[in-house]
Amino acid sequence: MEHVTEKQDHQTRVKQATEAGKAKQNPDAAFRLGYHLMAPSGWINDPNGLVFYKEQYHVFYQHHPYDETWGPMHWGHAVSDDLVHWRHLPVALAPGDAFDQSGCFSGSAVDDDGVLTLIYTGHNVVNQETDELYQNQNIARSVDGVTFEKSEANPVIPAQPVGMQRDFRDPKVWKEDGSWKMVVGSTEAGKGQVLLYQSSDLENWEYQGILAKHNGGNEGYMWECPDFFKLDGKHVLLLSPQGIEPEGNRFHNLYQTGSLIGEMRDGEFVRGAFTELDYGHDFYAVQTFLDGKGRRIAIGWMDMWESPMPSQQEGWSGALTLPRELNLSPAGKLRMKPVEELQLLRVTEEQLKQNEISGTFLIDGQSNQLELEFDIDLTISAANIFGVNVCCSSDGSERSTIQINRSKGTITLDRSYSGIGVSGARTAPIEIGESLHVRLFIDRSSIEIFINEGETVMTSRIYPKESSTGIEFFTEEGTMKLRSAHLYQLKNSWLTD
Ligand code: FRU
Repeated sequence: MEHVTEKQDHQTRVKQATEAGKAKQNPDAAFRLGYHLMAPSGWINDPNGLVFYKEQYHVFYQHHPYDETWGPMHWGHAVSDDLVHWRHLPVALAPGDAFDQSGCFSGSAVDDDGVLTLIYTGHNVVNQETDELYQNQNIARSVDGVTFEKSEANPVIPAQPVGMQRDFRDPKVWKEDGSWKMVVGSTEAGKGQVLLYQSSDLENWEYQGILAKHNGGNEGYMWECPDFFKLDGKHVLLLSPQGIEPEGNRFHNLYQTGSLIGEMRDGEFVRGAFTELDYGHDFYAVQTFLDGKGRRIAIGWMDMWESPMPSQQEGWSGALTLPRELNLSPAGKLRMKPVEELQLLRVTEEQLKQNEISGTFLIDGQSNQLELEFDIDLTISAANIFGVNVCCSSDGSERSTIQINRSKGTITLDRSYSGIGVSGARTAPIEIGESLHVRLFIDRSSIEIFINEGETVMTSRIYPKESSTGIEFFTEEGTMKLRSAHLYQLKNSWLTD
């Protein structure tokens, strides 16, 4: 009987949470995005449970449907046939059972022989005043991909290994050589690390040891959201460390997301230095999955902890990035480029006639839901500093500046005049060769910049006025020669029943 009551309880909580989220929907709110993953309303953070299941793409996310600020974490849910057009599904997980009393934290999903299985962290606050809490790992299953039942075996991993600290979260599970493997974020003696587990049935897990740990330098005190996979002949560990200190132009966000690239040698992961994956202000907790075509696709949270979030005035907060395909460059650099399906978003195409820019050249972008793609010929461009201002207001008070400095080999995204709430610049390294390919996606309150097939990527939130639709190419002393430039208006990608 007890079990039946608990099951009904979970479904009741799920229903309430779904209805609460629906009731506060406001699709016309000024900062709502047109073609990015978001919740119907309320707060979201990390992407969770990315999976290709029964020929559809499922994306879950950390969600607080009752408020636009972080709170007891639920799992929100959306589905797509093509990675572009999305439909909201009911909330998948609600907290409040004995093993996830205070939150269903981040985790992953697998297709277990037709059963969609979520593996997630139970967050349990024992005493708020003394800050006593514990974290464990749990599973929930669905046969229809919509309604999830938490397992009677929960918690499937009740506690972290002896001697480790209580931060023990964000399981990422995959199948390898016939068994299930899991990486989990952890910390020991104030230093981040990733633990490895193994199972034959997703319920009984055996601890295998530490897969990777802090090198003693500037690598953070806790490694959140690990993800481990093979890519183009190497092994890649993605992680989101807390506590990395700024160094020059690097690591200026509160927390970082990046990669350790290496090889498995005699069961040991031998890896290089931690490298950021995206150099913008707002990219965190990335997760990947393999799609039906063998691609490794990454989606991140397009915000940062403790950042200003002006959309909270509109009753919502948080979005996920565009899906990006990962690969390694011939030099071994991790690249992220927008998945090719995103071309389905294009509704109009305009080819810019001007091919040589000296000083400034202004066009009307017509909206803030667009893609701008251009190729600069560096063999005959003379300017050292050049770039483009986007989301420019006609009175000159608003703009988001993307500036390339050729002699320094850098790109800078400056949000000093990007609208309300946000500020500050981020600078990233770029390869200066014979040409520079720039692809920009603007979606009302977001900007994603992909340089040279995703070698350098920057993602940031901006909050300009709806009327700030100007695009201004600029050079400082000298010319910039464009081989080609295209502007595409992009459509909304949310489907309603
Ligand atoms: C990362 C994170 C995870 C945790 C979740 C809680 O942003 O802190 O480690 O599971 O968010 O919402």
